Amino acid sequence: MLQTPLTGKKILLGITGGIAAYKTPNLVRLLKKAGADVQVVCTPSALDLVAKNSLAVVSERPVLVDFFDASGKWNEHVQWGLWADLILLAPLTANSLAKLAYGICDNFLMATVLSARCEVWLAPAMDLDMFTHPTTLLNLKRVADLGYQIIEPETGSLASGLSGKGRLPEPETLAQIVETVFQSPTPEAPQPQGEVEAVTPETSFYRGKHVLVTAGATKEAIDPVRFISNHSSGKMGIAIAEALVQAGAIVHLVYGNVTTPLPDYCYLYPVESALDMLNQCLKLFPNMDAAWMVAAVADYRVENIAREKIKKSEDHLTLHLVKNPDILKTLGELKTPNQKIMGFALETENEEFHALEKLQKKNADAIVLNSLKNENVGFGKNTNEVTVFLHNGDKLPLPANSKTHIAQELLSLTSQCFQV
Ligand code: PMT
Repeated sequence: MLQTPLTGKKILLGITGGIAAYKTPNLVRLLKKAGADVQVVCTPSALDLVAKNSLAVVSERPVLVDFFDASGKWNEHVQWGLWADLILLAPLTANSLAKLAYGICDNFLMATVLSARCEVWLAPAMDLDMFTHPTTLLNLKRVADLGYQIIEPETGSLASGLSGKGRLPEPETLAQIVETVFQSPTPEAPQPQGEVEAVTPETSFYRGKHVLVTAGATKEAIDPVRFISNHSSGKMGIAIAEALVQAGAIVHLVYGNVTTPLPDYCYLYPVESALDMLNQCLKLFPNMDAAWMVAAVADYRVENIAREKIKKSEDHLTLHLVKNPDILKTLGELKTPNQKIMGFALETENEEFHALEKLQKKNADAIVLNSLKNENVGFGKNTNEVTVFLHNGDKLPLPANSKTHIAQELLSLTSQCFQV
């Protein structure tokens, strides 16, 4: 069997009574597929929302719920707490979060978590108003201060019919985050040089600002049916657009080919090629306060696009490519002192040197360097691991986490820097 960072790892999945519990059998299946040994522990109310037998079948272990099983045998919570290499609570309801914050262990799952010595990751999921309730926010801060790791919920439609922040990330995202825990930090990874403090919408630099975001891959036509492109899914750019909306910005999203749902509450500008993207950005930029250039733009395009579908009559076909304009550099040259512009960098060698070169040559205020050392993050994935280079010389690595979380940290970080 293929070795993965999860091979042989003991994962205790705690499920509490939120509607998103229906996603957990798939999460168990993905963790098992990656080689983990998974023990499911449910609160009694979780079982109103997901079938115990389904979880037992996919995990290949009986599901634990109570201190004593049907035969009267004691399920030792201390033993299970010590068994786990990692505990993930997903979904974590507002109620169970409150219990964790105050050490209330009135059920088997909470007693198990209190007995654990491993890292405990929390994936809170609830309705948007419950999530932003001051009690929930205080409890989240409290558990973060206590050392629990938090996976930010996603924004989108919720079970209540409302739309907002509170969705449990998809099982693929959660499984990737768990996997990256056993990989990161990579041995060479520099240690963070500072803490990224949460910036609330009230204090964010982006509040009320017009922000341009580019996302996804451009497509360069070869003929009417073929094109050259790349593997960008648009997830990172869209995560930044969503985080900006939450920070109170007015977001203008210029996007190429994306494989992920587009965000709500943004102005949307679909484009195809790098030239289309440049034209759209040039129209918008004079009225923007900031720009996040996250798109993977094709560096070259076909010089003469065939009018008709190219026939496969010859054994070899040569395409003549010409260089595309650099959109970030163009906007960097047009930038006024009041505008901020941020770019990404994807490098396979001399990463830091090239990232710093881009910061300077493209007149950017920040460049975010993707890590290519961790194969579970970046292009097309739900997670990312980056290092931010700021124009003031600061360098800050952000360890692997969901793109939603990375986007929020990037906004906090740049917000703090721009407000100094
Ligand atoms: O979309 P995902 O699947 O979520 O993946 C995210 C991502 C890996 C695509 C993203 O994090 C990322 O790194 N985007 C930029 C990729 C890239 O084109 O890197 P680059 O080093 O070639 O370009 C540097 C910067 O210049 C980028 O901000 C890019 O948008 C910009 N650029 C590049 C070429 C060009 N012709 N015009 C540009 O504006």
